[in-house]
Amino acid sequence: MKGLILSGGKGTRLYPLTYTRAKQLIPVANKPVLVRVIEAIHDAGVSEIGVVVGHTAPEIQAALGNGSRWDVSLTYIQQDRPDGLAHAVKIAREFLNDEPFVMFLGDNVIEGGISQLIRDFAENEWNSQIVLKAVDNASAYGVAKLRADGSIEALVEKPEAPPSNLALVGIYMFDKHVFEAVDAIRPSARGEYEITDAIQWLIDHGHTVFPHIHRGWWIDTGKPTDMLEANSHVLEEIPPCIAASARIDTRSVVDSRVTVQEGAKIVNSILRGPTVIGQDTLIENSYIGPFTSIYHNCQIRNCEIERSIILENSRVIDIERTLRDSLIGRNASVKRSAEKPSGIKMNLGDHSALWV
Ligand code: TTP
Repeated sequence: MKGLILSGGKGTRLYPLTYTRAKQLIPVANKPVLVRVIEAIHDAGVSEIGVVVGHTAPEIQAALGNGSRWDVSLTYIQQDRPDGLAHAVKIAREFLNDEPFVMFLGDNVIEGGISQLIRDFAENEWNSQIVLKAVDNASAYGVAKLRADGSIEALVEKPEAPPSNLALVGIYMFDKHVFEAVDAIRPSARGEYEITDAIQWLIDHGHTVFPHIHRGWWIDTGKPTDMLEANSHVLEEIPPCIAASARIDTRSVVDSRVTVQEGAKIVNSILRGPTVIGQDTLIENSYIGPFTSIYHNCQIRNCEIERSIILENSRVIDIERTLRDSLIGRNASVKRSAEKPSGIKMNLGDHSALWV
């Protein structure tokens, strides 16, 4: 069994953060989503993993290396254009070498891992197995129609009248027949080779496709609100830990569900969990509320922050109002200015959004 992680794509819905960085490397609870995906595949007993990469290949390779840090072996597969998920399978054929494989979208976060899914597929003679999740607004997703024997009869993209409430999660298992399917299908109306078309081809040609119904949470971190939601879920799961080299002064109050990483300094502040403070970050005269992740080398002074993600090397200083539901990129600076006339001064990147 091999693994295939899809980590190319454009990431347009996360602009401006993804102008300058691969979306799969944005951290959730201070760990990149892509690293969470690698750990989930490794925990399920799969250690040979192909990573499909696009224009952000150098950054992804620099972050992951050969995978030995997670006890896996990574092979990078270059996709020249983001021509769709089925196209990514097509170009990974040589690496996969006709072995069964699990395919995981590199921007998805799922509760509880995928070990059961891998076991199910290994124990059955199915040609494919896809992860489904019951959702309230099925019309916004790819949706599955099941037969009486539990197998999948059809997949419908964003249906007006959904045949079920079971949406496709970004995790799939395939055997070698998928290569016939990805060769046979044509690009969709949006010009991509769609994985749903490849799966439908398998079904229409007599192959067995069964679902794995996922009961926990699952988040596709495509949009900023999804990142914040994934961050909240993961923060609730991680065991809190105060690093030995972290410094917390006696005036600070740090509740039991807070993680403070190496070299971080907490001065005269209140930290309410679940929250994580990154390496060498300074929190001074501030309140950091629940569901907040502040990454490495940040400075937060005289501020209140709740349910937010702040990426590395950023500074948030002397802001009077509580900052909440915010996603702040790397090397950003948010400060109160003493200059007159008073007003709001902005230096925002393309596609930024500011609510005042
Ligand atoms: P998507 O989120 O569907 O696409 P995208 O990354 O281009 O994002 P946006 O819609 O915001 O522009 O992709 C899901 C995952 O699959 C993501 O990790 C990127 C990856 N991917 C590929 O590796 N190759 C591809 O051709 C496509 C379309 C996506």
